[in-house]
Amino acid sequence: MPVSMELIDPFEVKGCNNRFAAKLRGVDLSLSIDIPTFDRIHQLWMKHPVLVFPDQTITDIQQIAFAKHFGDLEVHPSLAHRADDYPEIYRVSNVDKADRIMEPESSDWQYLELTWLWHTDSSFRPVPSMASILHGIEIPPVGGDTLFADLTAAYEALPSHDRALVQKLRVVHDHEAILAKSKGLTERDDKGVYEHLPPVTHPLVRRHPITGRRSLFLSPHTMDKVEGMQASEGRELLNGLIAHASEDRFVYRHIWKANDVLMWDNRCTMHAVMPYDSINHRRVMHRTTIVGEGPPTD
Ligand code: OGA
Ligand code: MN
Repeated sequence: MPVSMELIDPFEVKGCNNRFAAKLRGVDLSLSIDIPTFDRIHQLWMKHPVLVFPDQTITDIQQIAFAKHFGDLEVHPSLAHRADDYPEIYRVSNVDKADRIMEPESSDWQYLELTWLWHTDSSFRPVPSMASILHGIEIPPVGGDTLFADLTAAYEALPSHDRALVQKLRVVHDHEAILAKSKGLTERDDKGVYEHLPPVTHPLVRRHPITGRRSLFLSPHTMDKVEGMQASEGRELLNGLIAHASEDRFVYRHIWKANDVLMWDNRCTMHAVMPYDSINHRRVMHRTTIVGEGPPTD
């Protein structure tokens, strides 16, 4: 294992905390990593919630082995998007298991297209995920960038009376709410096969268990309503926070190269995929998702 790992060129993130995303070279994720190397990566990741590891030609098994250093792995509730060989691999891909581009009318594609909306992974679970690790395998020539919003910076930029207000609130998150955001899925009976997931509530402000910093907990695709508020009033509040947190000043845009591996902290970020020509171009990404350490708390 090379020990010359160094942090290079932290990305410029327009107008905000430019330490939010950073690129890390000098580590080969296809090899097993020792404890000091893991500790170094973890330390860097606590400073830079979106870490980019370029030029990683890794197999699914190697990706799983790397991810397991951080904790147990989730298995995604959508059966169609799980890899058959390795259920811990979530296929964020417009290509089906038979290696054909998905029909735009298929429920499998319509579900995946919902990654184009802002969200945080697994916010529909009682214990949402800690982190996601995504390996870009095939990248379309245009589009398909991934946006990441810094929810710590967004929280800290709120006026203090708004911070005091949102800190008291809890939000109902529901996997069914994801499906309802797709016009195609709403109109059809065969919505895909998912494990049953009852609604859960989470605080609107959470404290990061390691850094101790507070952030907004936003996952627009699963957020259904604010507890104790009229539906319209709660929606207006959430929409205002989503618009605030997705302002350019809080966002890093990742333009993918094949064999980039990205690791992001779901406890303090949200993300969205930019549209691309999903009918004519393949976009194949494999994700591993790390189980969170417990329910989010403030
Ligand atoms: C994900 C996701 C990001 C991407 O993997 O969780 O939302 O770039 N996709 O495909
Ligand atoms: Mn996601």
